[in-house]
Amino acid sequence: MRPKIIISKTAADAAHAAARFFAETASEEASRKGFFASAISGGETPRRMHRLLGKQPYLDSIPWKSVHIFWADERCVSADDPSSNYGAAMRDFLEKVPIPNDNIHSMPVSLSPDTAACVYGDRLKSFFSGRGYNEPVFDLIFLGLGSDGHTASIFPDSEADEKGSGKVAALFGGTPKVFRITLTIPIINTAQRVAFLVTGKDKSAIVNRIISDGGGLPAARVIPSSGNLMWFLDREAGSALESKEPYL
Ligand code: 6PG
Repeated sequence: MRPKIIISKTAADAAHAAARFFAETASEEASRKGFFASAISGGETPRRMHRLLGKQPYLDSIPWKSVHIFWADERCVSADDPSSNYGAAMRDFLEKVPIPNDNIHSMPVSLSPDTAACVYGDRLKSFFSGRGYNEPVFDLIFLGLGSDGHTASIFPDSEADEKGSGKVAALFGGTPKVFRITLTIPIINTAQRVAFLVTGKDKSAIVNRIISDGGGLPAARVIPSSGNLMWFLDREAGSALESKEPYL
């Protein structure tokens, strides 16, 4: 499968391209079936996009009442901890948009890690089965990429794929090295659309490696059965790609 690669000139342009895609997909799915279920990632890169979602023109173009936000992964820390993905997303956009509180599906990190993974897996099953799906099928999952080839909290040599309910796993690791809850590769690959958002020169080598051969690294195992895999890059992150894609 060949992913769709969208290279923007700057990190800000890449964030806008990703925000536009989020808004367009949300509107399309909300109109088609009445809801839009998206899982977002943590780290620094997506925050620029998240902040855009809370501003015009995206703020008024997204049907927030029909949007459900989940997380691809979360650190097992309190919401007010600076490393909390939920806390950052709340500050960056969720507190600024008219999304119903019940549509914000944070990972239950106050529970023990393994229990939190099982509970979140059950919540996903319940959410999607209540909407006629026999398994979780996200409309759009946004992922980041670590320099070691990790994505979400699926790290090289981690057992994330084996633990948890098969869809959601608990593990200890990453930076910061803490307990984490993460969607696993199988559930990521059932999504209708998966989009990586990666910027910066320091990611150019790993971006090329994942897109070229992947070397069995976690991010290279993201191969959605829908065939809808996108990479939103800035020029720097895409600078090592052998086959240059047109800038958008
Ligand atoms: C997390 C993220 C993680 C992130 C990458 C890239 O919670 O740690 O989900 O997978 O996307 O580590 O992080 P940066 O965007 O900060 O480089």
